Amino acid sequence: MADFRFEVKARDAAGRIGKLTVNGKTIETPAIMPVINPKQLIVAPKELKEMGFGMVITNSYIIYKTPELRERALEEGIHKLLDYDGIIEVDSGSFQLMRYGGVEVTNGEIVRFQHDIGVDIGTFLDIPTPPDTPREKAEEDLRITLERAKEAEGIKEIAMNAAVQGSTYPDLRTYAARELSKMNFEIHPIGAVVPLMEGYRYKDLVDVVIASKQGLRPDRPVHLFGAGHPMIFALAVAMGIDLFDSASYALYAKDDRYLTPEGTKRLEELEYFPCSCPVCSRYTPQELREMPKEERTRLLALHNLWVIKEELNRVKQAIKEGTLWELVDERARGHPKLYAAYKRLLEYREYLEKNEPVTKASAFFKVSEEALKWPTAVRARERAGRVKVKFPETINHPIFGEIPKYLGLSYPFAQSEGEEDFTIERPSKEEARNYVMAIAEYQFGEGAGEAFKDAFVELSRKTGMPRQIKARGKHLATFRAEDGLLTLGIEGARRLHEVLPFPRMRVVVDEDAEPFARKGKNVFAKFVVDADPNIRPYDEVLVVNKNDELLATGQTLLNGEELRVFQQGLAVKVRRGVEK
Ligand code: GUN
Ligand code: ZN
Repeated sequence: MADFRFEVKARDAAGRIGKLTVNGKTIETPAIMPVINPKQLIVAPKELKEMGFGMVITNSYIIYKTPELRERALEEGIHKLLDYDGIIEVDSGSFQLMRYGGVEVTNGEIVRFQHDIGVDIGTFLDIPTPPDTPREKAEEDLRITLERAKEAEGIKEIAMNAAVQGSTYPDLRTYAARELSKMNFEIHPIGAVVPLMEGYRYKDLVDVVIASKQGLRPDRPVHLFGAGHPMIFALAVAMGIDLFDSASYALYAKDDRYLTPEGTKRLEELEYFPCSCPVCSRYTPQELREMPKEERTRLLALHNLWVIKEELNRVKQAIKEGTLWELVDERARGHPKLYAAYKRLLEYREYLEKNEPVTKASAFFKVSEEALKWPTAVRARERAGRVKVKFPETINHPIFGEIPKYLGLSYPFAQSEGEEDFTIERPSKEEARNYVMAIAEYQFGEGAGEAFKDAFVELSRKTGMPRQIKARGKHLATFRAEDGLLTLGIEGARRLHEVLPFPRMRVVVDEDAEPFARKGKNVFAKFVVDADPNIRPYDEVLVVNKNDELLATGQTLLNGEELRVFQQGLAVKVRRGVEK
């Protein structure tokens, strides 16, 4: 069976950094697969690998239809044919089906052919229904796509794509995603979006992607089929896209077009290069213009690949820093249609909130009015509202307005930067406990403050900030200087476990994981049997067994829904175990 793994390593917005392993070859996601045209190599696949592209995509239908290629592929395998030892994914001819109305191969034939030539990831012959197709036709196409998915599932012994279709009908997209998620596939592309991108219909693209993501299992990587322009990477990753493919690097190059993360330029309009890749530092636009066509195309293609790679790195770095929304905001300024799409995305509050980390490595930067609609800001105000019921005293925050006084030290209120400066008031000795109780309500939900009602809070002599939180000589929790939230000690976890009814803040693990969790070892996703659906990424959680006995406390990488589904990778980074 297919050797395929996907683990999430870090996240921001609804995006993630993942590790994808196929047949012993590993790449980090988000990643982009350069498209290789097996009939015309502009950049050699080997060279792509050396540039850091560990995965490529080519078209099995073109190979199938071209006798010389087909023979060689069957004889020596696709890796030898392309002279590429990374991960090779292939498409099936579906795109040709959409563009030219038909293909001369059946679903079963192309899937078997993909097996025979030794691809790493195959694709069955889904039907890409274009945007705005009449509903009945979209439904009929989807019915056939799902039938073909079933057929492919019966044949497959390799990792395979199952593309989500459904044209511009969100309910069809969600339905398709749910049905395909029940089947045994490894990756879910979102299909037939090329016409949306070609028409700059990014707002519709957001609707299609979110509708699809809402129906998909969260543990499978998602590929935005045909998306390879760097200007949409940040937005797409923020929605939860893990994979891209780009033919544009070569197609644009042939057309003398020059990619930048803000949009496309024509070589002819460039006086200066806004880039310092090996191509742009070596030549001026004028020198490039004077070159023979073939050489110029190759150099432009190389530049296009470098910017694609650079923008993906920028997106990944933003995920690590917790600044992906800032980058999306910045990129949205590159094109009015992209700006419209960004605003549309922010309307999907529930989807975004569910995936948004509760804490970040960076401060909240109010770089625009839209920033106040980022899920961090929306959540902060909601949670502050529930704290206010118990702690009505407020302060006026220059970004967030009236907030409970005792949340003034916590993320994102203290860790934020707006146009105006503000000073963070240090807690008095008398009020320190109120701070901790309010933070507990904010962080763990209603009633959590109870666990700290007799707490003694040490204030740092140097900074005046809370440090250790204790009661009757026992350590309950630590106030984190970075984000003003709490890390639980065993006694604090015990108390929280007592005051919060099941399943709140719980991650339930099976017997096999119990002794490890108790010893303070990390919990892996495959041992999780249940979880509080309200858990959010990077929450501090209570690890329990099926009898709701407390085993450990730690930080989860996954939200509650994901905790129930994921079978691979880390679930909870355990801080402390509870020995029997
Ligand atoms: N390439 C671009 N869009 C699509 C699609 O919807 N399906 C497949 N199989 N390939 C594509
Ligand atoms: Zn360049």
